[in-house]
Amino acid sequence: MSERTKNLPRRSCHATPGSNEKMLGKAPGLGADMVFLDLEDSVSPLEKEAARGKVVNAIKNQDWGDTTVCVRVNAWDTEWTYRDVITIVENAGERLDEIMLPKVENAAQVVALDLLLTQIEKVIGRQSRVGIEAQIETARGLINVEEICAASDRLETIIFGPADFAASTEMPVLTGGVQIPEYPGDHFHYVFSKILMAGRANGLQVIDGPFLKIRELDALRDYAMRSRILGFDGKWSLHPDQVTVINEVYTPTQEQFDKAFDILEAYEKATTEGERRGAVMFGDEMIDEASRKMANKFVSRGERAGMARSAE
Ligand code: GLV
Ligand code: MG
Repeated sequence: MSERTKNLPRRSCHATPGSNEKMLGKAPGLGADMVFLDLEDSVSPLEKEAARGKVVNAIKNQDWGDTTVCVRVNAWDTEWTYRDVITIVENAGERLDEIMLPKVENAAQVVALDLLLTQIEKVIGRQSRVGIEAQIETARGLINVEEICAASDRLETIIFGPADFAASTEMPVLTGGVQIPEYPGDHFHYVFSKILMAGRANGLQVIDGPFLKIRELDALRDYAMRSRILGFDGKWSLHPDQVTVINEVYTPTQEQFDKAFDILEAYEKATTEGERRGAVMFGDEMIDEASRKMANKFVSRGERAGMARSAE
């Protein structure tokens, strides 16, 4: 894993086609927590090789601030993966934080990338280790998500890819990652939950994929709230306008953040003072050790996003 980025926020993860120099130039300034420069599905097959050089150039010569910088390479079932990885990691320098591997189907595919990265790092004398982000977007990948999440200590995130997943499972939809009104409930609920459990069991950040109707910001907010409420850390953005909405959805509200601090204080007082009780009333609810853990998660997520507790 890359020590710098493993625990940095990834509320918004912005997709940038690696063949588009204009978009590459704009990517650092969009306010996204993480940006990935794509060599995979947003790049035409005829531009795949030229895109590698553009991506290297963008990583080396732009000011990325503290954004997490990632490159999505092509999947192992193409002929491009190994050259993508070698060209990017050998030439991009230390500012490259991670490689994203799409359409991961089993643990061996993550191990193969890990081994290749290890050799490249030795050859070029890289100081920091390159992290891995893995996309689950096929039926086989979902079945194997538990072994995939445990496959390498370089893994930082596990990501759901709804568009490829819909194709893989033959869902009759033509737009990726949006709600399907005809389905009573959420057609991806099982998928979200399964990926979340596998990711959390292995200490990974868990990320929701793209919402392709880029002009429908209210619908994006509604849909993103589903994975947010289940516990996901963030979601992809495809357009600058999506970044603001996504950052907002995956950040606690000020009210939640302040309440978490109040719970921690009340619990600390209850367990250490007077009768030293482990379960006490907090307003009209009972709190105990589990409440402390829940509150801690809000505090760390909020702090990661730069929040501060309101003045009394
Ligand atoms: C993302 O890669 C997706 O297929 O949804
Ligand atoms: Mg995909």
